[in-house]
Amino acid sequence: MPAANDSTTASEVNEKDTRVQFPQEGYFIEQPIAPGSYLGPINASLPDADKVPLLFQPFKVKDLTIANRVVVAPMCMFSSLDGFFTDYHLVHLGSFATLGAGLILAEATAVLPEGRISPSDTGLWRDEQIAGLKRIANFVHKQGSKLGIQLAHAGRKASVKAYYADLPESAYWKDNVVAPSGGAEFQWDDKHHVPRELSVEEIHRTIKAFGAAAVRAAKAGVDTVEIHAAHGYLIHQFLSPVSNNRTDQYGGSLENRARFLLEIVREVRANFPPSKPVFLRVSATDYVEHLDGPSWEIEQTVQIAKWVKEAGVDVFHVSSGGNTAKQEVKYAPGYQVPFAERVKQAVPGLDVVAVGVITGGKQANEVLEEEKADLVAVGRGFLRHPNFVMNAAEELNVKVKYSQQYERGRM
Ligand SMILES: Cc1cc2nc3c(=O)[nH]c(=O)nc-3n(C[C@H](O)[C@H](O)[C@H](O)COP(=O)(O)O)c2cc1C
Repeated sequence: MPAANDSTTASEVNEKDTRVQFPQEGYFIEQPIAPGSYLGPINASLPDADKVPLLFQPFKVKDLTIANRVVVAPMCMFSSLDGFFTDYHLVHLGSFATLGAGLILAEATAVLPEGRISPSDTGLWRDEQIAGLKRIANFVHKQGSKLGIQLAHAGRKASVKAYYADLPESAYWKDNVVAPSGGAEFQWDDKHHVPRELSVEEIHRTIKAFGAAAVRAAKAGVDTVEIHAAHGYLIHQFLSPVSNNRTDQYGGSLENRARFLLEIVREVRANFPPSKPVFLRVSATDYVEHLDGPSWEIEQTVQIAKWVKEAGVDVFHVSSGGNTAKQEVKYAPGYQVPFAERVKQAVPGLDVVAVGVITGGKQANEVLEEEKADLVAVGRGFLRHPNFVMNAAEELNVKVKYSQQYERGRM
């Protein structure tokens, strides 16, 4: 990358240059006025506010109030360089805010460089990475929306090719792919690297890295952090006997396999403002009931939900799968909702997010009205329809307040 100099102009910048300064192009100006909250609970067409569908009633946890109960699920966009948030993330996440998502969870963001799924993942392992996230948080807040960030380590699923990125071999770190248990037996599949086993010292360093990333997230002004313990990434690898055959204090019994998670929860909680909630995302099952042998399943998930609540988790986000290529998943509308419901019933006082093939307002609202979850997260639905919330309002016949800039678009 050539150094930007006084003669560099935007039009001269080579397509591949990503860290460009614009010395003669002025500077960024944040939106000067806050348009106020929108797509919130106010339903002018209904006489009785209690009749507002739950999806459009506000949700409060700790000091965080979310205008509606639709969460944008975290989604890796593989659009980062050296872990830095880019203009892509500002537009991508910012657009959900302009269109009314209550809470936007930014993608799996690595707490250590070797914890990235791909070289194109976002990261929060250095202070320099704070500014890009802060810019997004400021923008999202000015739309009346809230921003969270998912803190992650990919473990044995690290250092893979993002599905559209074409990077040189040198961008990857195949010799430093780590896991609770190492060797060919624990390679996820032939598209992943053979992991090496983490030492106890490295485990402690990783736990500290989650805490340090939480400090950076707080400095960026995000409203919550979500610890990523789902989808077969490092924490899930520790939890499940499918991927953890350690014989020390981090393997064996459920207590030992959950130790890494609980130490991370405590570290994050101690390093994130007490007034702000901490989310945790888990996989409820490994989906290998068809195979012999122990695995991760819903009753263990219920048990750790109780433990993490004690350790300071405020919101429990229930996904599933991702820890083994041998999984057999039966995808269907709302297929993960029963797991969320099970946790909600078993752990009173713990707020729960349901996610997975929730594709419309009525379906999302039903999950809440039937008390199966407290919030609903939507992933691909937002990629297909970034205005998912506006569509949901129409479907539920809720008159919502648009942002000031978009108000004239109302018919
Ligand atoms: C493009 C894409 C990227 C994703 N990245 C993440 C991620 O960074 N962290 C995570 O926990 N889940 C990730 N997921 C899973 C989603 O958060 C969500 O759980 C999943 O898509 C199911 O919800 P849906 O049916 O509403 O899409 C990703 C999904 C997609 C489609």
